[in-house]
Amino acid sequence: LVLVVDFGAQYAQLIARRVREARVYSEIVPHSMPVEEMLARQPKAIILSGGPSSVYAEGAPGISSDVFTAGVPVFGMCYGFQLMARGLGGEVAHTGAREYGRTGVTVTAPGTLLAELPEQHTVWMSHGDSVTAAPAGFDVLASTTVTPVAAFEDLDRRLAGVQWHPEVLHTEHGQKVLEHFLHKIAGCRQTWTMVNIVEEQIARIQTQIGAEGHAICGLSGGVDSAVAAAIVQRAIGERLTCVFVDHGLLRKGEAEQVERDFVAATGVDLHVVDAQQRFLDALAGVSDPEEKRKIIGREFIRVFEAAEAEVLGAAAAEGAKVAFLVQGTLYPDVVESGGGAGTSNIKSHHNVGGLPEDLEFELVEPLRTLFKDEVRLVGEQLGLPAEIVWRQPFPGPGLGIRIIGEVTRERLDILRDADAIAREELTRAGLDRDIWQMPVVLLADVRSVGVQGDGRTYGHPVVIRPVTSEDAMTADWARLPYDVLERISTRITNEVAEVNRVTLDVTSKPPGTIEWE
Ligand code: XMP
Repeated sequence: LVLVVDFGAQYAQLIARRVREARVYSEIVPHSMPVEEMLARQPKAIILSGGPSSVYAEGAPGISSDVFTAGVPVFGMCYGFQLMARGLGGEVAHTGAREYGRTGVTVTAPGTLLAELPEQHTVWMSHGDSVTAAPAGFDVLASTTVTPVAAFEDLDRRLAGVQWHPEVLHTEHGQKVLEHFLHKIAGCRQTWTMVNIVEEQIARIQTQIGAEGHAICGLSGGVDSAVAAAIVQRAIGERLTCVFVDHGLLRKGEAEQVERDFVAATGVDLHVVDAQQRFLDALAGVSDPEEKRKIIGREFIRVFEAAEAEVLGAAAAEGAKVAFLVQGTLYPDVVESGGGAGTSNIKSHHNVGGLPEDLEFELVEPLRTLFKDEVRLVGEQLGLPAEIVWRQPFPGPGLGIRIIGEVTRERLDILRDADAIAREELTRAGLDRDIWQMPVVLLADVRSVGVQGDGRTYGHPVVIRPVTSEDAMTADWARLPYDVLERISTRITNEVAEVNRVTLDVTSKPPGTIEWE
């Protein structure tokens, strides 16, 4: 275990991911956690993240210098580097020389940390203060034109740091520097592999659920619920039942992916509820986006709970006393809600009508320690179909919020056809993993004039919205090659009779959101 101490600048999650990419398990802890508490977790190393620009700023977060003298290897990055310098008697000064963005660094004496790195390379910086003198016992390894001490190490005490951000993509050789610290200086073993994750989780789930418990899992067609279900299935076999609510708002082929391909790959016991008509009835006449979301959410819970009551009622009739609800909660959600990383034992406030009163509910969250990219790798490890594992994010309300206007069966069919063509062409061009998401939106209440063959048409426009993003919080419109755009446009207008115009959304987020509603 490596602890990443978060000084509150959003770098901690990225650092934790990079540590795991170096095959070492890591968790994030807040800087306000007392050092004794960190040490009690027996970390193999501690990493201090970046943070606000100055260690001298009023209210700047700090950490007790005990962290440097406990005998645990420590690595400081950016702000963490300055904290280490100051905490051990070095000098950090307002030199007035700031460095932001890409910066050239010169390796003056590589030592262990910067071994085999080019003498000159580019790193990502973001700092106002500079370390002007390293603490006693440290070797200075690198400098920039304005920062005399840009990296240092003390191999005896196993302490090291860099002024830059090795975790960001724009830093050359960043991963190598981190690995030198973890593997060579701190001596961490490389045990965080997908095989180990799966085995560990299976053992954990078996302990939690016991030999008699029954579990239920809602499948959405997305990667998280699919991987969560697949792990639990490996752990408890037929005592897991998956429920799939087909609300009719999925894209072409996605219901089949769940009902046929997922079942074939995992052998889960699947309970499908065809609720298409129910959702259409509930959505009739509604065009307000928030209203649509509310209706879809409400109907979903009702349908799911009815199915749940049926499945678990049957288990209870066979004598089950405890029931488990599987959820695909990911590590970023856990960190953001301030929780620890152990399996949650919170009793879910489940109020499903029709269940025996003495049946208790507990949550099972097998992905609680994982990042999204790790979930995909675990999915591959479990043999899930690539279409599910590599699926782009898709909103819960589905195509319901990609039809601008009222949702009807005819409109859903039009949008499904247009969307399927756009996705097919994206895949054919080999761009699936470069594009974060590509909503296709039907402007159902808009008509425009066109001409096809000898005839005038009066059809609907669709908008395609390809975006690149890291986390959906911000996004940029993707510069798809013109020939790909041309194929999408030609095929949609030829093959989907009701659509006579294809438009491209070239708005970043902000100001636009990714979805249109
Ligand atoms: P926006 O449109 O806000 O979307 O830029 C950000 C990300 O969230 C997805 N999204 C939703 N997901 N329920 C969901 O489960 C929703 O109501 C919803 N609205 C947007 C969107 O697809 C994108 O990935």
